[in-house]
Parts: sequence; C-alpha cells; structure tokens
Amino acid sequence: MANTTDHISMPTTTTDDFAYKTTVATRIELPDRAERDVILEAAGYNIFNIDARNVYVDLLTDSGTGAMSDDQWAALLRGDEAYAGSESFHELRAAVADVMGFEQIVPAHQGRGAENVLYGALLEEGDVVLNNTHFDTTRAHVATQDADPVDCPAPEAWEMDSTVPFKGNLNIDRALEVIAEVGPENVPAIVVTITNNSAAGQPVSVENVRRARELANEVGAVLVIDACRFAENAYFVQQCEEGYAGATVTEIAREQLAFADAVVMSGKKDGLVNAGGFVAVADDPGLDDLFETCKQRGILYEGFFTYGGMAGRDMAAMAVGLREAVEHSYVAGRVASVRELADGLAEAGIPVYQPPGGHAVYIDAGKFFPEIPSAEFPGQALVCELYREGGIRGIELGSLVFPDADRPELTRLAVPRRTYHREHRQHVIETVEAVYERRETVSGYRIAGEPSMPELRHFTADLEPIEK
Ligand code: F0G
Repeated sequence: MANTTDHISMPTTTTDDFAYKTTVATRIELPDRAERDVILEAAGYNIFNIDARNVYVDLLTDSGTGAMSDDQWAALLRGDEAYAGSESFHELRAAVADVMGFEQIVPAHQGRGAENVLYGALLEEGDVVLNNTHFDTTRAHVATQDADPVDCPAPEAWEMDSTVPFKGNLNIDRALEVIAEVGPENVPAIVVTITNNSAAGQPVSVENVRRARELANEVGAVLVIDACRFAENAYFVQQCEEGYAGATVTEIAREQLAFADAVVMSGKKDGLVNAGGFVAVADDPGLDDLFETCKQRGILYEGFFTYGGMAGRDMAAMAVGLREAVEHSYVAGRVASVRELADGLAEAGIPVYQPPGGHAVYIDAGKFFPEIPSAEFPGQALVCELYREGGIRGIELGSLVFPDADRPELTRLAVPRRTYHREHRQHVIETVEAVYERRETVSGYRIAGEPSMPELRHFTADLEPIEK
C-alpha cells in the first residue's frame, strides 16, 4: 500500500521558512520612492545613517538582528541579575562547555568587547597577527595595540565561481612566508575566522584548522578562533569535508574548536541573541596567565567576569541560543535560505559569489557596474541603489571598507536569522534585477567627509554622487 503520508512530508530543501512559525509580528513599511531619495541624500549616502523604520528589508547585518525562539524568551524571564556568580552565568558557561568544548569564559558585551579583552592581553607594539582575513573590528583592535594585522586568505578566496570547497581557509603557505619575513618571535597570534566573513563568508575546513594548529605550535603562537559563525561553519564541514558526513554539527564544532587556545565570540551571530559575546580560553596550565589577564581586562573594560557587559537575562538567552544554533533543522534551514537567495539572484543573471557562505550573499559590484572604477566605490553605488529601488539595506565590502586591500568590489546582503521569509527574498531578487536593468544610469561616489580612524571610516563617512 502506498504511504499515505507522503504528500505531507517535509520538503527536502528545507529553508527556515519550514522550521518555524511566527508568533510575534513586526510591521515593516516601504517609504515611497521620492521619500527614499530624500532619505538617502540626507544620510550622506551612508546607509548606516538611515533609520531602521525607513528600511523595508534590512540586510545590513546578521549580527544581533535575528529572532529569538520562545525558549530564549522564556529564559530571559528567568535571568539572574546577581553581580557575581549568577545562575545565568553558569548556564552560559555550561552551554559553551557542551556546545563548544571550553570550560573557561570571560563574558563581554559583544564580539568586539571580547576582542579588546583578548587582543589587549596577547599583543604588544610591533607584533604581527596572521588571520585568514581580519574582520574590520578585529583589524582595528590589532592596530590599536600598535600591531600589524596581516591577511592570509586562501588563493581561491576571490575566485568567485570556483567550486573548490572551503575558500575561507587560512593560506598556510602565505602564513609561512610572512613568518619567515617578520620572524616567528614577532607573531604571537594566529587567528582563524570561521566562517571567513570578510572573504564572502566562506567556510574553513577542520583540516585547515588542524594545520593552523601545527603552524602555531611551530612558531610558539597562540591559536585563536574567531567563532562568530561556528555552527554554520560546522554544517558546511558536515556537508562538504571528507569524513564528516556522519558527524553531528555539535561533534564537528567541538572537534574544530578544540584546536584553539582561545576563542573570541560574538553571541550576536551563532549565539542567536541580540547582544553579548565572550572570550573562551582552553583549560591548559600554559594558558592560565592568558585567562587571568583576560579576566582582569574583562573587569576593567566589560564588567565583573561573571557578567561582562551582559545582563543576566542576556546570558540566559545566549545559553539557550548556542544549543539551538547547532540543531540540524535550524542550521540546515539557515544555510538553505541564504542559498535560495543566492540562487535566485544567479538565475536572474546577477554576478554573485558562488557558492554562497552561511550568512550572506555577496554581489560582485565590480562586474555589476563595470563602468564605475574602484576609486568611485561600485559596491557603495549598489548599496545606495538597492535602497532607492526597494528599501533594502545592504553593506559595501570593497574599497570603502578595505581601502588598501587588493580585493573585489563586493556588496553584502546579510540574512538575519529566522527573520525574513521567501516573499522577502523574492522582493530582494526583484529589486536587484530592477537595478541591474538600469545599471548604465548609475554613477559612482566620492568621500565628502572622512573620520580619523581609517579602519572604521565606512561607519561614519559622508559620500556624494559623482555627476555622470
Ligand atoms: N568577528 C567577526 C568575524 C564578525 O563578523 C564580527 C561582527 C565581529 C568579530 C565583531 O562582533 O559585532 O559582536 O562586536 N560582524 C558583524 C557583521 C558586525 O555585520 O559582519 P560584534
């Protein structure tokens, strides 16, 4: 007899549309076209200056913008707000231990707070830090210690159509070259950012982290993992790295993170919360001093080391979020929804980075606007046009954010977790297509006012369009 339940089985490509139902509704509105023109001009053509109420589909970031689950909201109500030793701290510590394998944590208000705690403890003037690619706040924190952040992306990182898996890897050969140039004694830290956000959110293999560990051992460096999107990364490992198809996301995450001496984490990504982060240090006598210094710096810059800038309720919600982030149905749906957006754009002829990473779709704005030179920020031109056309907010990750780097002109559309659905993705695809059809009419931009810290200029710079 035929299986009568076949017609109601779950679709095989499960996006997060199928894994959740909505129980809190937030109204969004699209200001009319003329208003959007005015808003954009008033914002100095810098999308960070636009109020969220004027944004229809907000793909500025996947950081702290997701929807919490009912279990997380329940945990919020149980938050223990004790200054020292709260229950919520213990819940967070237990979740980090179970999911990520680290027993020792110093909470922080968000990822960059954790970076300040850790890199201030690790670095001195003149040091060199190697990273598959420094995220902007990481680069700024290294630079603030008068140290030199050096990127070592995989050779295929910018081959936009290459189907080689793990284009986010640390380039071990390049790292060796840099070490030989500057001297191993000047490299106190090697960082692997998983997934590699600044290189199109590409994943990093377990094998690559194993090799980074060996390299760190040879040099006597501390191996740091920036674990913001560790669950998405572990899912890619399960799908694409030989030998991991039968392992769970948690098993993979724990195996990959176990290579690190220290982890720096923004809970706003795979912690599935709106605020929070932490440093975790491996339980190894050789790292006791590092952990102690992190605790002291935590007290100085974040808060006592059992809350570190987070309310007890935020720690409680993150404890639940970390456990949810490694559930197969969650992370498979998450990655599938990003892929669906990338595939829809690619089918419409839009040059997108392939394969997409776990949190965002990256459009090659250099190819999109071949007539706009890098010096006139084609990625920013696309950011502005997406807002003008459809009230969508993306972010430039090209010459504006990385002024000195040899890298493509990208516009990132980051997908908040458990927030938007297929209709929103369809609106985004149609908006990008509409801009593509009139791409010859779009002009580039120049910087009209620039702040003092070059690593952070994209947050506050004013721009103006260059007349065609
Ligand atoms: N490291 C990486 C790889 C990140 O992507 C981010 C933040 C941070 C560190 C800093 O964490 O925001 O909690 O202070 N990325 C966000 C983004 C902002 O939009 O990509 P934070």
